[in-house]
Amino acid sequence: MSTKVAIVTGSNKGIGLAIVRALCKEFQGDVYLTARDVGRGQEAVKSLASDGLKAMFQQLDINDINSITAAAAYFKEKYGGVDVLVNNAGIAFKEADTTPFAVQAEVTLKTNFFATRDMLTHFMPLIKAGGRVVNVSSFVGSRTLNKCSAALQQRFRSEDITEEELVGLMQQFVDAAKKGELQKGGWPETAYGTSKTGLTTLSMILARRSSERETERTG
Ligand SMILES: NC(=O)c1ccc[n+]([C@@H]2O[C@H](COP(=O)([O-])OP(=O)(O)OC[C@H]3O[C@@H](n4cnc5c(N)ncnc54)[C@H](OP(=O)(O)O)[C@@H]3O)[C@@H](O)[C@H]2O)c1
Repeated sequence: MSTKVAIVTGSNKGIGLAIVRALCKEFQGDVYLTARDVGRGQEAVKSLASDGLKAMFQQLDINDINSITAAAAYFKEKYGGVDVLVNNAGIAFKEADTTPFAVQAEVTLKTNFFATRDMLTHFMPLIKAGGRVVNVSSFVGSRTLNKCSAALQQRFRSEDITEEELVGLMQQFVDAAKKGELQKGGWPETAYGTSKTGLTTLSMILARRSSERETERTG
């Protein structure tokens, strides 16, 4: 039987590193710690090794499409696909950060929504039968959803929202932030929260799609 493989994005520190640590103890296969910065990633692999845990390393910057495609090609070639993918990489500006909100909106949505979607676009086709994909969202996403206009809530909560419509809505948020028209568009003033509303909605769209495909396959 071929070796199983688990991958965690943004796992040189924080929750991602904790997930890698747990997988090293429990997962029957190769566990990949990935990081956008090779030095920080290798340091984290070393710190696990000093605790007797063996993680492998792959550079992966989810904001860099070339890095995503190189990683996807590597896992396809070496393992014939992926068994477990944890999309953990994410960013949040500190409350005290004085970066203009429009910039915070663009940068936060880029990583937490658009780049995570790029990961899913390139890695979902590699997920093996019985594999698992975990997208690390946040309760802040549902709290933010409750603060959106009724019209937006209706779309986010609807069962017929498509990936394309969702991408359009996330872009509308960024555009509204740039024009100073969040309120007019029905958006609350939180970039992190909106990015996680988007990620949770995307996860639900993909879950529906997977279960439809499974029904088609099994009848
Ligand atoms: N902490 C919480 O209370 C909490 C609650 C709910 C959900 N979450 C979610 O849990 C996830 C992890 O959070 P955390 O608290 O562990 O954050 P963290 O300590 O700041 O770690 C974030 C990780 O993501 C990486 N990262 C950021 N941008 C990346 C990119 N473009 N490509 C690859 N990696 C990237 C960071 O790498 P660098 O070291 O290179 O920056 C770091 O390894 C996030 O998605 C967050 O939104 C956190």
